[in-house]
Amino acid sequence: MTLEVHLDADDLTRTLKADVLAGLTADPKWLSPKWFYDARGSELFEQITELPEYYPTRTERQILTDRAAEIARHTRARTLLELGSGYSTKTRLLLDALTTAGTLQTFVPMDVSPTALAAAAARISADYPGLRVHNIVGDLTRHLKHLPGGGDRLIAFLGGTIGNLVPAERAAFLSDVRSVLEPGEHLLLGTDLVKSPQIVVPAYDDAEGVTAEFNRNVLRVLNTSLGADFDLDGFAHVALWDPEHEWVEMRLRARWPMRVTIPGVDLVIELEAGEEIRTEVSAKFRREGIEQELAEAGFALDHWWTDRDALFGVSLARALPTA
Ligand code: SAH
Ligand code: TRP
Repeated sequence: MTLEVHLDADDLTRTLKADVLAGLTADPKWLSPKWFYDARGSELFEQITELPEYYPTRTERQILTDRAAEIARHTRARTLLELGSGYSTKTRLLLDALTTAGTLQTFVPMDVSPTALAAAAARISADYPGLRVHNIVGDLTRHLKHLPGGGDRLIAFLGGTIGNLVPAERAAFLSDVRSVLEPGEHLLLGTDLVKSPQIVVPAYDDAEGVTAEFNRNVLRVLNTSLGADFDLDGFAHVALWDPEHEWVEMRLRARWPMRVTIPGVDLVIELEAGEEIRTEVSAKFRREGIEQELAEAGFALDHWWTDRDALFGVSLARALPTA
């Protein structure tokens, strides 16, 4: 098992500071979703994946269960790279199928969260004795060029996390993915689909309040790493469906007027009662949109799979030769 670090503690702190300074001095205020995932945030996200309202994880798992053998046959991947891998739970379906097919040699998970990566790697190395596991602590919007080469690679990006990138970031990301691949190599992409807001919104606003806790965790990260004094109880969790962009928007709404000091970036901010900080978008997709975005980045859509209720989509795309 090997570990490669492109985001060490200093680099993380530097990027966090730049993001916080840019976001909290903007109008309206925003924070980048990258910062949800410290050890506690990664743990809370795992709890979200098991909530009854959060349909994406179990639906994607069902699709992968049904299609893993086909994915293995189609890609004959020797290396499986996974972006935003977290605990790599569903990825085991791919590891199993590629092991059965006899092609898999190396697994390369990349995540910004070193704790999730370490926990996942320990479990996976124990359960797949012959597999070479190469962990990369990195940011998928900055460090894709460090992914190892080697031929017959499959990049998996699951969980609908691509929806957390705004459209311009998404286009840049897909084109980066295309440029690290050789023609004929593959991308497996999980996307949550457009559906009734009555199904989508509860997935981001569960009855138990785990998602609210997860959302507020970003403020706890700022308190811990930048010495900020956010009062977490002063913020309500808000999840809204935006029909124009077809995304869910997560916000934190100040319950009363606040002044927050953030010594790590030498900043004092004022929030009015009711003022909101945008913390995340989670875009929902349609097949035609995905196919077009993939085509624009230089991919052909070889397979498109959904569940019977068309809640979630999984695309298997092939890198095309560049003209
Ligand atoms: N793939 C898992 C986890 C999804 S949660 C699943 O499908 O359940 C999103 C994951 O992406 C988290 O583990 C988080 O740490 C990671 N992540 C978020 N932003 C990232 C970024 N910019 N670069 C790399 N990883 C990122
Ligand atoms: N990738 C996940 C999603 O968009 C992340 C997520 C789930 C999330 N629930 C959340 C992010 C709540 C912020 C708040 O579904």
